[in-house]
Amino acid sequence: MTGRIVAAPPPAPPGDVAARATAGFRQRYGGEPAGRWAAPGRVNLIGEHTDYNDGFVLPFALPLRTVVAAAARADERWTVWSELDDDPVEFGPAEADEPGRVTGWAAYVAGVVWALRAAGHAVPGARLAVASDVPVGSGLSSSAAIEAAVLAALVDLGGLDLPAQRWPRLAQQAENDYVGAPTGIMDQSAVIRGRPGHALFLDCRSEEVEQIPFDLDAAGLAMLVIDSRAPHRHADGEYAARRRSCERAARALGVPALRDVPADGLDAALARLDDDETRRRVRHVVTEDQRVLDSVALLRAGRVRDIGPLLTASHTSMRDDFEITVPEVDTAVEAALAAGAYGARMTGGGFGGCVLALVEASAADAAAAAVAAAYAERGFAAPATVTALPAGGVTRLD
Ligand code: GLA
Repeated sequence: MTGRIVAAPPPAPPGDVAARATAGFRQRYGGEPAGRWAAPGRVNLIGEHTDYNDGFVLPFALPLRTVVAAAARADERWTVWSELDDDPVEFGPAEADEPGRVTGWAAYVAGVVWALRAAGHAVPGARLAVASDVPVGSGLSSSAAIEAAVLAALVDLGGLDLPAQRWPRLAQQAENDYVGAPTGIMDQSAVIRGRPGHALFLDCRSEEVEQIPFDLDAAGLAMLVIDSRAPHRHADGEYAARRRSCERAARALGVPALRDVPADGLDAALARLDDDETRRRVRHVVTEDQRVLDSVALLRAGRVRDIGPLLTASHTSMRDDFEITVPEVDTAVEAALAAGAYGARMTGGGFGGCVLALVEASAADAAAAAVAAAYAERGFAAPATVTALPAGGVTRLD
């Protein structure tokens, strides 16, 4: 975020996040950490529910970060403290090697240890202290942030031979196979491979990336990130159901993944499916992949404002075809558009989370106020709005 809060901010613990991680380390374990590693949250500019269909996404990393202060220990045990919880969690190889044994927020840490060990790495025992400015439950990938920061810490502390381009898949495995969330590879890629001033164009099949310049400041634009504050209703079950339905549709169409249905072959593909719900799911994914490609082409040509209609079309598709929006996010999108946004859409897995709105920088405050007013009118809990610029991915601080 640029740090400029244009509406009620979410509650954040006081103090700089890196200082909080260090203070937590000193207080819990005594002594100094060997280093500190930071990983950001993310938003997705466009390309929703396309990653697990082997398709295209265009996320960017946020300046909000999770910091892990850590030091190796001599035995093969891992102790993790987070400011979310007073009590540290400790586990050894037995718990790390059995997915599901460590639960709650610490499962993301154990999952990374598990994924590294499963890939044959000698993971060093460690003490870790975690502090975060990435809000939990707002759809900004606090889970990918902790996975990436812990992964970077363990790779460095152990001197592991693991090139950074393999980190996203490994962190995704931690989430899929240890935590048990069937997510794609977008979030981990964004928080690991993001670059300041760029959006990350990722082909989720080949894992090839292209850094696409996305300089909002230079264009006189701002991206509002509006936390809808909608309670996540059944988000996990609905996400898994959408994924299953896409995989079933791909099987029915005889393709490896929905990415293999070309946009100009969509009508023919839909004609081969016999229920309307599946047809709508497929239409979302295929048209969304095309919107990512179209957005990338516009951004490459420096036409940032022109991606607005694609963002809004993405939202409409998520609302009507993929059916993953809720009244709060629809309200935020409608109010931002009515206030003059070039485009607006829900970002992330759905059923709540954040809405993005692309606005003239000079109109950011008015658009945020318009969303807040629309919320008040409908009796929704006040949204929290900030502006965001693309930031860098996971890094060692010191
Ligand atoms: C969540 C998942 C991602 C992706 C999005 C939807 O954020 O973690 O892998 O599927 O939903 O685009």
